[in-house]
Amino acid sequence: MNPQPFESLLVSADITLLQALARLDAGAQGVLLVVDDSRRLLRTLTDGDLRRATLAGIPGDAALASLPASPAHTVGLDAGLHEVLERLDRHRIDHLPVLDSAGRVVDLVTRRELSRRTYLSSPHLGDDEAGLVREAFESNWIAPLGPHVDAFEREVAAWVGVPHAAATSSGTAALHLGLRLLGVGPGDHVLCSSLTFVASANPIVQLGATPVFVDSEPRGWSMSPRALREALHALRREGVRPKAAVVVNLYGQSAQMDELLPLLDEAGVPMLEDAAESLGATLHGRASGSFGRLAVFSFNGNKIITTSGGGMLVGADEQLIAHARKLSTQAREPARHYEHVEDGYNYRLSNVLAGIGRGQLRVLGQRVERRRAIFGHYRRELGALPGLRWMEEPDGHRGTRWLSAFTLDLPQAARRRDALLDFLERHNVEARPVWKPMHLQPLFSGRRYFGHSGQADVARQCFEGGVCLPSGSNMDDTQLQRVCELLLRGLRLVVQPA
Ligand SMILES: Cc1ncc(COP(=O)(O)O)c(C=O)c1O
Repeated sequence: MNPQPFESLLVSADITLLQALARLDAGAQGVLLVVDDSRRLLRTLTDGDLRRATLAGIPGDAALASLPASPAHTVGLDAGLHEVLERLDRHRIDHLPVLDSAGRVVDLVTRRELSRRTYLSSPHLGDDEAGLVREAFESNWIAPLGPHVDAFEREVAAWVGVPHAAATSSGTAALHLGLRLLGVGPGDHVLCSSLTFVASANPIVQLGATPVFVDSEPRGWSMSPRALREALHALRREGVRPKAAVVVNLYGQSAQMDELLPLLDEAGVPMLEDAAESLGATLHGRASGSFGRLAVFSFNGNKIITTSGGGMLVGADEQLIAHARKLSTQAREPARHYEHVEDGYNYRLSNVLAGIGRGQLRVLGQRVERRRAIFGHYRRELGALPGLRWMEEPDGHRGTRWLSAFTLDLPQAARRRDALLDFLERHNVEARPVWKPMHLQPLFSGRRYFGHSGQADVARQCFEGGVCLPSGSNMDDTQLQRVCELLLRGLRLVVQPA
């Protein structure tokens, strides 16, 4: 790949019209950017400009400087996608140079690239899903129970290597059920990874319990065993035994279960493994979601496989999972009439959606390979840039790279991260900051937090400099290459000193 095709569009006003024509042809963007020695934009130059010059009798060996002045429309580095589109439309143009605060041209947005958005992670259906949904329609199993639900539970359990599974309407619902089944209630303390999506922590407070947040370890970004040990010691000194620990497997990779589980076992704290993002990952060959007393998966639309919305609670304890099924269907007792002893929820997965899930599960292996290949591509193309630290895959792990993520290990990382995200958004590429840790959320302000070591707040660092890149398995090679080219350009801009 040419690392800087954008650079090849910059020309000086000394070159001739004929030379410009050849450069236009080679650049294949339909535009050149004529700049002075300081990269200040003098004008844009299109095929049309050259045609008009020829018709006006300007010879091919004349310098571009001899062309009539033509002020260019431009935007600043703070312009968003909406502003770019508005400018392109208002001025009926196809190219918009981007200028930095010193007036230097640093980027170019073209109408052509804006016609197709590159998503962070969008649904990627296989060949079987539509047929399985049709089966549900034809058999009239359009309900939160039915043969697809039963089969999906069996198939997910088999994939993960756990005996039992209960399909739910979301991963969040499965987390809520899981905590309740572990006995969490008012007055209890629950340990929870801080670097996660809010759904990991919400059910803790919804059950009336107190979350205690735990930092990440710096390599794979999941719960820090060192911080967990600290938290368990501190709570033990206060005579508190946490009722459960929500350990999150981040961005498609298992947490350090071989260190976390012994600590929790010793303290008598059951683990609820939040594997919402990590279906398909393994640690020492063992599937993510098979470590906790209970574990949760999500089949939300952005996950590695999806049912459009859905989740699963899995575990080895048959009674717990049977209880989860009961609670998720309004806790109805086995009687002819509607008999209720405990309060329940409407949390079951629909049979139609389970049909989609069964089809998706058949292609999970392929989806993992593709996401891993996308990460490998990013790493090869961008790995040499200074200040970039990829989320690592420590020994023994085989993650899915659900989202390819890195942090900018530089001063003022958050400002640079936002500048990079703005840059990508201007080109219609969706990327996101790494999760904002729970201990930094206003929702959980004042809650306890145990850091990885002394001063280090690893989760905060991951958030402040962290970027999740487009990682969808349905992203084709052309899109991937384009994102890499944009990243090279954007990262060079943002890693420059402030
Ligand atoms: C770590 C984590 N936990 C829980 C959830 C909740 O899953 P759902 O969206 O299916 O409710 C998600 C994602 O959505 C997640 O990323």
